[in-house]
Amino acid sequence: MSHRDGLWDLMGNLQFDLLMSQGLKPSDKFLDVGCGPLRAGVKIIPYLDAGNYVGFEANRDLLTLAEEEIHANGLEEKMPRLYHSGVFEFEAAGEMFDVILAQSLFPHLDLNKVIYCCVKAAQVLKPEGSFFFTFFNNPQGIANLEAIEQKEGIVTFPVLDPYHIPEAFLSFVARKLNFDFEIVPYDHPHGQVMGKMYRWGSEEDHGPLDDVPIREDKKPAAKKTAAKKPATKKTPAKKITAKK
Ligand SMILES: C[S@@+](CC[C@H](N)C(=O)[O-])C[C@H]1O[C@@H](n2cnc3c(N)ncnc32)[C@H](O)[C@@H]1O
Repeated sequence: MSHRDGLWDLMGNLQFDLLMSQGLKPSDKFLDVGCGPLRAGVKIIPYLDAGNYVGFEANRDLLTLAEEEIHANGLEEKMPRLYHSGVFEFEAAGEMFDVILAQSLFPHLDLNKVIYCCVKAAQVLKPEGSFFFTFFNNPQGIANLEAIEQKEGIVTFPVLDPYHIPEAFLSFVARKLNFDFEIVPYDHPHGQVMGKMYRWGSEEDHGPLDDVPIREDKKPAAKKTAAKKPATKKTPAKKITAKK
């Protein structure tokens, strides 16, 4: 299969080993954001109980390859579910997740989409759940506008794909969503680092999602607002059913 490049096994195993070291259990509900042709999925699906793997992917052609991988690896009985969506409509899966992974997704997204993805992930993460995501770091922070050589000729940019993001900014996004943030050890061949967002307490401790305390003097005066517009154009996530 031509999509299985030289990094196919290495990157699949790297993701699987990371999840094992972070305590993924067969009974966990797992969401793979930007699952591609299931480079990690073919390792993770056999480990999980049937029905526990959900993949979201923006590129329909890659989902066709993902279906081929499901058949080639005899994974139908594990009932993986694949959704076609580029706007993170995770609610279409109709459940909450213990573990969410976005491998090599943020390097291809502008910052608005990164933030949007984090909020949508937070909405479907169980209270004890974790969201893992790789990114290229910009350790000098937002004031650094230069390209960065990450590793052996891999160069990242502030306004071009592959993007880098300051770790401090992702930590800030996590805090705003009442998450803790940490970097976990990960030996990515091109120098991406693995971030982890997880709740630091129960809902009683931190309040509902996005209940970020605002200082009294910063609160805007109450005003009438027009009816809410949807944040994204409504083309709902489409569930792809693996063809026999
Ligand atoms: C570099 S690939 C990584 C694929 C997979 N995570 C892996 O490690 O093999 C990035 C994937 O994210 C997908 N993608 C990009 N933007 C997306 C979005 N907004 N929603 C869902 N998937 C997206 C791409 O189509 C691609 O399959």
